[in-house]
Amino acid sequence: MALWFTPDMEHDVAADPGTPFARLGGAAGVRLVVDELYRRATADPELAGYFHTTDMTSQRNRLADMIGEAMGGPPAPWLKGLEEAHRGRGITHRHFSLMAAHLIDALEHHGIDPEESDLLTAWFAQGREAVVDET
Ligand code: HEM
Repeated sequence: MALWFTPDMEHDVAADPGTPFARLGGAAGVRLVVDELYRRATADPELAGYFHTTDMTSQRNRLADMIGEAMGGPPAPWLKGLEEAHRGRGITHRHFSLMAAHLIDALEHHGIDPEESDLLTAWFAQGREAVVDET
């Protein structure tokens, strides 16, 4: 995906109107979707256990930053790579799919347009191999 920023714009958090990030509502719009995703994930008895010791405030920030970057928003070089972030957590294919379903529901909940919704869902789905830790 083409990046819209140049190095001297690194600290400019304004959303370029041509990006999916902007069409999602910028940082605030992404944040709403992330909050809803984790609200659903932590209420799901099959997933809640993964987050029992997690600081959910920082977790929300991190996923929102990662999605923002992926959707053409500001870069977030402080984040761990997906594989490193999930290594050793024993995340199964089933649990990955459940999380993806919660993301789709969260996008639907906030009335995100199908085009952005599909883009974000497709981006999430391509992380499966890095995240799943099942032999
Ligand atoms: C492509 C899909 C996913 C993305 C983009 C994603 C994104 C992230 C990010 C950005 C972090 C924080 C990285 C950092 O510390 O810099 C993280 C950590 C984590 N993720 Fe995911 N995640 C995905 C799938 C999942 C799934 C399916 C689960 C569980 C079913 C999960 C559970 C966790 C847990 C438990 C942590 C660590 C929380 C802690 O530090 O306590 N993730 N993820």
